Amino acid sequence: MTQSSWFGADGHRRFQVLWQDGDRVFCRRVDGERDVLAVLLAAEHPAPAALDRLAHEYSLKDELDGAWAVRPLELERDRGRTILVLEDPGGEPLGRLLGGPFELGRFLRLAIGIAAALGKAHQRGLVHKDLKPAHILVNRTTGEVKLTGFGIASRLLRERQAPEPPETIAGTLAYMAPEQTGRMNRSIDARSDLYALGVTLYQMLTGSLPFTAVDPMDWVHCHIARKPVPPSERLENVPAQVSAIIMKLLAKTAEERYQTAAGVASDLRRCLAQWEAQDYIDEFPLGRQDTPDRLRIPEKLYGRAREVDTLLGGFDRVIKSGAPELVLVSGYSGIGKSSVVNELHKVLVPPRGLFASGKFDQYKRDIPYATLAQAFHSLVRPLLGKSDTELGGWRDALLETLGPNGRLMTDLVPELKLIIGDQPPVPELPPQDAQRRFQLVFRRFISVFARPEHPLALFLDDLQWLDAATLDLLEDLLTRSDLQHLMLIGAYRDNEVDAVHPLRQKLDAVKNAGAKVAEITLAPLAQEHLGLLIADRASLRAGARGVARATGAREDGRKSVLRHSVRLFARRRGNARLRP
Ligand SMILES: Nc1ncnc2c1ncn2[C@@H]1O[C@H](COP(=O)(O)OP(=O)(O)O)[C@@H](O)[C@H]1O
Ligand SMILES: [Mg+2]
Repeated sequence: MTQSSWFGADGHRRFQVLWQDGDRVFCRRVDGERDVLAVLLAAEHPAPAALDRLAHEYSLKDELDGAWAVRPLELERDRGRTILVLEDPGGEPLGRLLGGPFELGRFLRLAIGIAAALGKAHQRGLVHKDLKPAHILVNRTTGEVKLTGFGIASRLLRERQAPEPPETIAGTLAYMAPEQTGRMNRSIDARSDLYALGVTLYQMLTGSLPFTAVDPMDWVHCHIARKPVPPSERLENVPAQVSAIIMKLLAKTAEERYQTAAGVASDLRRCLAQWEAQDYIDEFPLGRQDTPDRLRIPEKLYGRAREVDTLLGGFDRVIKSGAPELVLVSGYSGIGKSSVVNELHKVLVPPRGLFASGKFDQYKRDIPYATLAQAFHSLVRPLLGKSDTELGGWRDALLETLGPNGRLMTDLVPELKLIIGDQPPVPELPPQDAQRRFQLVFRRFISVFARPEHPLALFLDDLQWLDAATLDLLEDLLTRSDLQHLMLIGAYRDNEVDAVHPLRQKLDAVKNAGAKVAEITLAPLAQEHLGLLIADRASLRAGARGVARATGAREDGRKSVLRHSVRLFARRRGNARLRP
């Protein structure tokens, strides 16, 4: 293609703009020279991220099959602009067809097409991550559906989004699954696309989005905490069954959603068949054909009843006496420290207690308090879903306790602003005083959550990597403070914490100061439990090997504890040949 073939002297007349979405202009070439679609960037100097997305979509060209996706053909540069050239299968973006509610038959036919196309993308091992009407091309004559807009699609089966400011998260906030906002402590996988599918179908069926929000943080709040009004309540002619399918797609946690696009398509087909045959849709159990195509190894813990009991015992004491305790869980990497402590999570459901956790990161030691921020984020988030009256109680307590220093905590946990509003800046202080002030405000902040009626368990994982600022803060919490109803749990790799590690030294200081400290050292699993684990695992493997091979699923997780325990067991028995 020649240099000037895209941008002639007549400017943009060679294109018909089909859709503009932020910086991205989606157009069809109309000068008769080539039947192609093109994605251009509106800005003369586009952001590097926008260019990366075009390049990324192009790089997926071998995976994007023309049967269900709009295929990238070329990535061209013309007069300094980058253009992603796509095959033109005909049709137009679904976004252009939206307006009022779709007629039910038409809705169902299209919805089936979209679910089927999405299922194909998932089978290819892709997670789209930005499914929305602008990225669905519909051919009105043939009814065919093709997906496009793969600029942030992922080949990873699961990944984590960090809780970045919502403005900078890639994707489209109005359609974004809760876990994709980075504020759910959950991974993104194909089921995140099913949530976006739910939002899209909701919009097609009712003519409006399930939520309206005023700013990015508000969108995040809607997705993680607010319950959408069911489509059948918005519009009375929407059959209950169709409404229920959409609500299942919009479930907050991926486990409660459909697990596969094929499962959704199957239920929608059944609706369509009934609708065409009898003008009426009977109720039927949802998800009959919704067989997960990946193995999810059951999360069962073997042989740690004693350790879990010790933890629960500690919490009971905190409930009864109010005096704070520190419980330390140590052992080799992979022996099961995090798993044991997380068992507590299931027991400490509100209102009996609150559980918050954060994990130190080897590579984030230079960011002070990052882990505490993570932990408190997990406490604040559920509050956002509370009724106005309940939330009012929290707001009053927080405002009263934090006084003029609220800003220090909203800087640490930005979601807090949704509860107590923007806070005025605090006066500058010399570093020493600023640290003391922070520690004081932080203790007060914790005291709002750690109350007699719901003591707080605060779990800090991988303490061997904690930052210096947090270390000081912990010492302050456990020794100087008048703080009550708090159980602090710390897990660390004892082989990485020697006598001169700052953590060890601080722990000794804390103990000497008279704080209550309990220690749990995890030993390799006992023979009988190990036997059970291996037996379960073997039968799971035998049954699942075929599925795993067919879907490319990997058995993740348990390897390290198993390997470690078996090795030790073998050593004890003097049988070096036993291998996991
Ligand atoms: N007692 C156990 N029974 C079953 N699986 C276990 C057990 N302990 C650990 N695991 C598994 O081993 C892996 C490593 O455990 P983890 O708790 O992350 O170890 P650590 O925190 O000590 O590094 C996890 O996948 C976990 O589910
Ligand atoms: Mg761990």
